[in-house]
Amino acid sequence: MQFTSKLLSTLIAGTMMIGTGANAADDLAAREQAARAASGAFVQKLGGALKAEMQKGGPEQAILVCRDIAPQIAGELSRANGWRVTRVGTRVRNPMLGMPDDWERNVLTDFEARAAKGEKYPDMAFGEVVEFGGSKHYRFMKAIPMQEACLSCHGSAEQIPAGVKAKLASTYPHDLATGYKPGELRGAVSIIQPLDIPLVASEAAGN
Ligand code: HEC
Repeated sequence: MQFTSKLLSTLIAGTMMIGTGANAADDLAAREQAARAASGAFVQKLGGALKAEMQKGGPEQAILVCRDIAPQIAGELSRANGWRVTRVGTRVRNPMLGMPDDWERNVLTDFEARAAKGEKYPDMAFGEVVEFGGSKHYRFMKAIPMQEACLSCHGSAEQIPAGVKAKLASTYPHDLATGYKPGELRGAVSIIQPLDIPLVASEAAGN
């Protein structure tokens, strides 16, 4: 008992939110759940928009979904929750939004190591409390696996249609996000929740 409560308070050391260790641990579980819900909402909304645009105007037209709608959805989720929600890549097309920081890069590397041991990307996530800028944050990442549907923009040179290639080359002259095979790790949804901002009820947060 003594050991358990000591372990707990070490695990959640200094979240500074709630007096007792058990409540703070509950809070982290709630934060993880909220992060999972937001990641799911992000991937689902983006996937839906991408699919609709691919059917309507083909991959050339759908580039705009990834360029404009992805940051828009991430922005909506960020504002509604008081978090930073973004997507990062193992290799990046848009460095401004997609480049992982050191923590994110380590988690991506760890995801690949977990996959090598047999874990599946669709279920893979990681979260922990990290201190930076003088305060504590709950950081969370949910793996984004490469799928067949992504090949026309992230696949090999032969898989990307000429029109798409030309548009990508003019918009993203430093594009590194090609050459992926289905089943590989394309990137992750990455979420930062400042611990001093309380969780928002999920309906209000757009999840
Ligand atoms: C129609 C083309 C297109 C398709 C299809 C597409 N993407 Fe992208 N993807 C892009 C573009 C363009 C960007 C850069 C967006 C930006 O400017 O932030 C991007 C960026 C990303 C990023 C952010 C990291 C980076 O490289 O900048 C991830 C992660 C990603 N795509 C995953 C996927 C996955 C997973 C699929 C399949 C489900 C997919 N994409 C399908 C065009 C596409």
